[in-house]
Amino acid sequence: MRRLLALPVLAAALLLAATGCDSGGDGPGTTPPDTTLAALAAEHDVLFGSAFDANFSTLEAEYQRILGSQFAVVTPGNSMKWDATQPSRTTFRYTNADAQVAYAEGRGMKIRGHTLVWHSQLPFWLTSGNWTKQQLLDILREHIQAVVTRYKGRVYAWDVVNEPFEENGTLRNSIFHRIIGPEYIALAFQWAHEADPDAKLYLNEYNAEGLGAKSNGVYALAQQLVAAGVPIDGIGMQMHVTDTFYPSAGDLGANMRRIGDLGLDVDITEMDVRLRLPATQSALATQASIYRSILTTCLAASNCKAFTIWDFSDAHSWIPSTFPGFGAALIFDEDYEPKPAYWAIRDALED
Ligand code: XIL
Repeated sequence: MRRLLALPVLAAALLLAATGCDSGGDGPGTTPPDTTLAALAAEHDVLFGSAFDANFSTLEAEYQRILGSQFAVVTPGNSMKWDATQPSRTTFRYTNADAQVAYAEGRGMKIRGHTLVWHSQLPFWLTSGNWTKQQLLDILREHIQAVVTRYKGRVYAWDVVNEPFEENGTLRNSIFHRIIGPEYIALAFQWAHEADPDAKLYLNEYNAEGLGAKSNGVYALAQQLVAAGVPIDGIGMQMHVTDTFYPSAGDLGANMRRIGDLGLDVDITEMDVRLRLPATQSALATQASIYRSILTTCLAASNCKAFTIWDFSDAHSWIPSTFPGFGAALIFDEDYEPKPAYWAIRDALED
């Protein structure tokens, strides 16, 4: 996709760059060009996305400007999780999720729903109950049916089951696995599909992007689900990595290919690259090359259809509170200035 510039054009571009009116600078302090990441990614048939949280409307104008312009798809970071949507067995609450969905729709952005079945961020009434298998099956079905129906035709893709694996590739001992058994996964996809047959349905996992025990577990399950006719469309690769722990392009590409051979898509769903604070220039450069490598591998895989980062500015990231001592994981800094990672991403998209 790299276009060869005719010499006069190149000369003009160099002149513009030299006079500071460039549209493709290379460092902090440089204003992002007009062409959005979403538009550049669309040329590759890839949706460029970001997570965002329900307090977005009270955030800085700069946050809103970037969120509303750079992305083709957004993922509500918390508002669609079980503890947010079903505070009691008989009460559903959609205030924050509705606001985020309306915001995205108003700006022509798609919405990725996150998430229907997860061991974390569950309401206390659910985790503290002493449920029989049948009771938990009913609870799971009711939850999935209610939330998916609420956003039928509006959420284009759902992370149906989130993080169901242990690091060794066996199924996680979650409340659902313990009480229902492994079939909770296929049932969840079935119920989500019944509630919105047009939504794309994903199994979303972390640390399973490259090759290894965990990704082998994901692959084997995907194979079984496809063979059994379960309505699954793809595997979500979260991609929460560090500057020293991330999948090689070779492993990631191979994993994407074998999943593609099953007829499934792979989306990058939650990428960030956390750094030890304070982040050095060299760590920021490594971070940029990791973003570039993962994105380039996605662009080269015909079944990689979306590339989403887990929020976009270091001013609003889950990393510092979850991984003390780490941060600076995203592509804009705390002042909304584009970081080297931003320019590396643009460069990969323009290639
Ligand atoms: C995170 C949110 O960003 C935080 O605000 C929240 O406190 C914890 O969850 N994998 C996932 C996401 O699938 O749902 C998580 O989001 C990040 C890790």
